[in-house]
Amino acid sequence: MSLILSSSLDTQAQSRLYVLNQSDNLSTQLHAIAQSEAFDADILAKEFKAELKETFSFYTAQAQKVFFLGLGKNADSAQVIKALRYFFHHQKTRIAAKIDIIVSSLNLEQLEWVANGIVLGQYNSKLYKTEPETLAEVFGENGQINLVAAELFGENAQNLVDKGIATAETQMEIFDLMNAPANKKTPQVLCDWAVASAQKFGYSAHIIDRPALEKDGFEALLAVGQGSEHDPAMIVVEYRFPLPQKTIGLVGKGVTFDTGGISIKSSTNMHLMKSDMGGAAAVLGTVELAAKLKLPIHIIGVVPTCENAVDAKSFKPSDVIGSYLGKTIEIIDTDAEGRVILADGLGYMVKNYKTDYLIDLATLTGSCISTLGYHAAGLFTNNDQLATRLSNAGSHTGERLWRLPLWDLYKEDIASDIADVRNYSGKPMAGAISAAKFLEVFTENHTNWAHLDIAGTAFGDTEFVPSRAGTAFGIRLLIDFIEGVL
Ligand code: BES
Ligand code: MN
Ligand code: ZN
Repeated sequence: MSLILSSSLDTQAQSRLYVLNQSDNLSTQLHAIAQSEAFDADILAKEFKAELKETFSFYTAQAQKVFFLGLGKNADSAQVIKALRYFFHHQKTRIAAKIDIIVSSLNLEQLEWVANGIVLGQYNSKLYKTEPETLAEVFGENGQINLVAAELFGENAQNLVDKGIATAETQMEIFDLMNAPANKKTPQVLCDWAVASAQKFGYSAHIIDRPALEKDGFEALLAVGQGSEHDPAMIVVEYRFPLPQKTIGLVGKGVTFDTGGISIKSSTNMHLMKSDMGGAAAVLGTVELAAKLKLPIHIIGVVPTCENAVDAKSFKPSDVIGSYLGKTIEIIDTDAEGRVILADGLGYMVKNYKTDYLIDLATLTGSCISTLGYHAAGLFTNNDQLATRLSNAGSHTGERLWRLPLWDLYKEDIASDIADVRNYSGKPMAGAISAAKFLEVFTENHTNWAHLDIAGTAFGDTEFVPSRAGTAFGIRLLIDFIEGVL
C-alpha cells in the first residue's frame, strides 16, 4: 500500500472519501461537493452532519462509491485517529485497490493523524487463526491511497503523512507483541524483537543474558525470574543522533507473564497478565520510532524482562534479596514483582548513563486502575516542570496522564524491619503510590525522573478487537514529549 499526498483526483480511483470537519462553512462545502459529484445537495446536507465518526455514502452514475466521514468539531488527535481507523477497519475487506481521500478542509496536523488512523485500520488482531482474513485490495502491494487537497499543504505535509504511517507501523508491531500469548512470548522473544528492530532501523541493541546478569549483580531481576524455565534478561537499546541535544533514559517493565508467583493470583482474568510487558513494549516501540524518525536525540531504553512463575525454585515471601545498586529488598509479596525488576532496570540506567530525563513505564499496580480506571495512566514525579511537559504531551496525543503524589509521608509503607526497603506495605491502600515510592529508592535522586503506571491503559477495550488488546500506549506520548524538549 502506498499513501501519498496529491493535488488532483486519480481518474482510476474506484472510490472517494471526503473527510470533513464540522466547520461553520460545512453547508457551503457540501453544496460544492454535491455539485461536482452530481448528487442532490439538499439530500446530502440533510443526511450528513459531519459529526465525529458519522459516515454516509452513495454511488455515482459511473458506479463509483463516494463516502463521507465526519470528524466533528475540534476533534483531538485520538478522536481523529479513531475515526479514520474505524472507517478503514470496517471497510478493510471491501475497498477497491485505489481510493482518493479528499482532505482539503483539514489542517496540517490532522493530516498526520489521518494517515496514522488509515494504516491502523488494517490491523488484524487474529494472530493465530488458521484461516487468514482477506484484506481489501487497497491494503495490498499495489493498493494506492491518495490524500487529495486542491491546494497542497506545503513541503512539510508529506513528512507529517510519513510520520503518521511510520508511527502506525511501529504501533502495529507493538500490538502483536502485546497480544501474543505467554507461550509465544518469552523474555528471549522480547530480546529477539529488539535485536531485529535495531538492525532494521540502525540503532544498537545489547542483551545482558543470565550469566552476565549473575556476574554483574542483577540480583533483583534474577530473583523474580528464578522460578521460570525461561531465563531473564536485560535489554539495552540505544539510538544516538550525531551531536544530540538531549539524552533520555527510558525503563520499561517486561514481565512476559505474571502468575503472581508464590503469592499466586486468582485465575479469573489471569490470562490478561500476558500483557504485563506493556512498559517494555512502550519503551521498545518509542526507541524504534525515534530511530525511524531520526529525531535529534540520544535515547537509551532499558528493559528488564522475565517471567514471574510458580515453581519450587521461585522466590518466596520473606526472602531478602540484593539488587544491582547493592540495596537490599525484603519480599513481602511475590506478586509485587514489577517494582523489583525495575529496581535493577533503573539502577542500571542511573549507574551507567547520565540522562537529562529518566522515565519509567510499567503495568505496575491494580491500585492505579482502581484510582484512574482505563482512561488515564498514573504520573509520579517530584519535578513540576516535567509533570507539566508530560501531562501536556498526554493531552495532545490523547494518551492521558494524571498526577498522583509522591510525598515522603508514604515512605513508611515501604520501610522494612530487616532490609533497606520492602516491596509491599501489606495494606490494601495507596498501592500505586507506595509502588512509586519504592521505585524512587532506585533512581539515586535523579531530578528529572517520572514514573508512569500504565496498568489501566496498556491493554484495554478497543472497539476494533472483540475483547481486550494491546493499545501501544506510551509511544505517541513519549515521541510527543521528546519533540517538546528538543
Ligand atoms: N502486573 C500487576 C499489576 C496489574 C494488575 C497490571 C492488573 C494490569 C492489570 C502487578 O505485578 C501486580 O500484581 N501488582 C499487585 C501488587 C500488590 C501485590 C502489592 C497489585 O496491584 O495487586
Ligand atoms: Mn504481579
Ligand atoms: Zn506484574
